[in-house]
Amino acid sequence: MSTTRIAGVRPYGEDPTDLYVRDGVLAEPVDDPDEIVDAGGLIALPGLVDLHTHLREPGGEEAETVATGSAAAALGGYTAVFAMPNTDPVADSPVVVEHVWRRGREVGLVDVHPVGAVTVGLGGERLAEMGMMAASPAGVRMFSDDGRCVNDPLVMRRALEYARALDAVVAQHAEDHRLTVGAQAHEGPVAARLGLAGWDPTAEESIVARDVMLAATAGARLHVCHLSTARSAAVLRWAREHYEVRVSAEVTPHHLLLTDTAVQDYDPVHKVNPPLRPAADTEALRRALADGTVDCVATDHAPHAVEAKDCEWSAARPGMLGLQTALPVVVTTMVATGLLDWRGVARVCSEAPARIAGLTDQGRPLTPGEPANLALVDPDAAWTVRGAELASRADNTPYEGMEMPVSVVHTMLRGRWTVRDGKVQDGEVQGHG
Ligand code: DOR
Ligand code: ZN
Repeated sequence: MSTTRIAGVRPYGEDPTDLYVRDGVLAEPVDDPDEIVDAGGLIALPGLVDLHTHLREPGGEEAETVATGSAAAALGGYTAVFAMPNTDPVADSPVVVEHVWRRGREVGLVDVHPVGAVTVGLGGERLAEMGMMAASPAGVRMFSDDGRCVNDPLVMRRALEYARALDAVVAQHAEDHRLTVGAQAHEGPVAARLGLAGWDPTAEESIVARDVMLAATAGARLHVCHLSTARSAAVLRWAREHYEVRVSAEVTPHHLLLTDTAVQDYDPVHKVNPPLRPAADTEALRRALADGTVDCVATDHAPHAVEAKDCEWSAARPGMLGLQTALPVVVTTMVATGLLDWRGVARVCSEAPARIAGLTDQGRPLTPGEPANLALVDPDAAWTVRGAELASRADNTPYEGMEMPVSVVHTMLRGRWTVRDGKVQDGEVQGHG
């Protein structure tokens, strides 16, 4: 059994030390390791966990596959991702979730956990086979109709009740569709000037308010996907003060950095759902993430084929790439601003998402005996984003040409390097090229 010494690394950005890996777990120091990896100057974080990834398989392979999405995830420092079910066919049955789960294992670059649909075909009417998906080898513990809201309050209540019985969580894409018919961009002066139909933020906030009450009534766990407004964060604070509610929430990197003014260029790469919001919301979301109102960062990595993005604004599909840029964007918005230190980054990008999803082998402390899931980050290695060079099949990054302040250098999954020196190690990688 061989032992690796990761020398000179700074766990959570703190003082340099050596980490030891043996048999897939972090180990006690030894004098004669079989391999020594010089990690001087690199910061060690527990492998990142993404609760919100669109891998597009099955049915959307022209935009992404489990293989290319896993490669992008590993390059971004991730060791586990949750694959959203809005695929074709929808992941609303044991057969489909098991397929995605198996593909994830075959590729082997990150743990791929399928999210099961809440309703059949994302139709919002009949509950999907939640129990069967939970009992499948994929062991589904998170359910979502993401892309669509579970709009009907009775269906949502039933879903929460089932989820409680399964010890699962319902992840809600909070959008009252009755308020967003035809919506193209955040409702405000920018959209008005461009003549784009507005997306009323009340559509999100009212569902968040309703759902915390439903979750409290059902005694179930609710997770709010891509929370995007100051008032949604305020609703969570209020709910936790007044109810015994088990609610968690995520914010995307793009909602921490970009604002609705980006839409002015009319480039559909900036079209996303929920839409980019005004700077006041961005500011409030950063504070909410720093103070724990919002628990974690999730990418909402949403690859789209060229045809779905290189078209007029109203015809374009919403969504943007996120896996390879998430950590640098969090550093820009949260660390460089003094709102979080690297321990805080570990909390919001790894520990909290692992806890929300019920993973016991991810988001763990960097101490002996714990699984060796690591992201090693060079805090001084800036790089420029080029969509064509990202591992995703698609190239719809909103950060094209932007400089990112830090680089993921190595990623380790259970003691195995999935990324060395910024290069994917094996896996079935077919991205660009
Ligand atoms: O922008 C988005 N894209 N928001 C969603 O809710 C769905 C996602 C997608 O699947 O492309
Ligand atoms: Zn969504």
